[in-house]
Amino acid sequence: MNKMSQMNVVIIGCGAIGPIHAEAVTNSDAAHLYGVCDILPERAEALAQRYGCQAFTSFAQVLADEDVHSIHICTPHYLHAEMAVQAAAAGKQIVLRSRSR
Ligand SMILES: NC(=O)c1ccc[n+]([C@@H]2O[C@H](COP(=O)([O-])OP(=O)(O)OC[C@H]3O[C@@H](n4cnc5c(N)ncnc54)[C@H](O)[C@@H]3O)[C@@H](O)[C@H]2O)c1
Repeated sequence: MNKMSQMNVVIIGCGAIGPIHAEAVTNSDAAHLYGVCDILPERAEALAQRYGCQAFTSFAQVLADEDVHSIHICTPHYLHAEMAVQAAAAGKQIVLRSRSR
């Protein structure tokens, strides 16, 4: 699969779980790690540097980027619903990371 047909993914939240998603996307033939996003710039920049992708510090900027096809929501639970609704309204595909019990 070439890059043109790959899905451009941005990981939202670069805490404990975000980097695991970044690694999984990097290992996928169908997806391209386009960027990572965290409100803490040092977290976004460190992960972006590791994978050679863009660092975002604003969720709104990610949603406004038309080249972003899909987002993985790896932020704390209380943000999930609002972020998912906003992402769907912006036409993004969504992968939501929750803890199963
Ligand atoms: N840690 C685990 O072992 C584990 C396991 C399974 C599932 N999960 C789930 O994964 C999700 C994330 O958990 P975690 O442990 O990685 O949390 P975490 O607190 O380590 O990381 C969350 C990150 O989101 C960032 N963030 C907060 N608000 C943001 C915003 N508006 N925009 C962008 N980034 C923002 C924070 O700065 C932080 O870096 C949770 O829903 C959690 O339940 C965690």
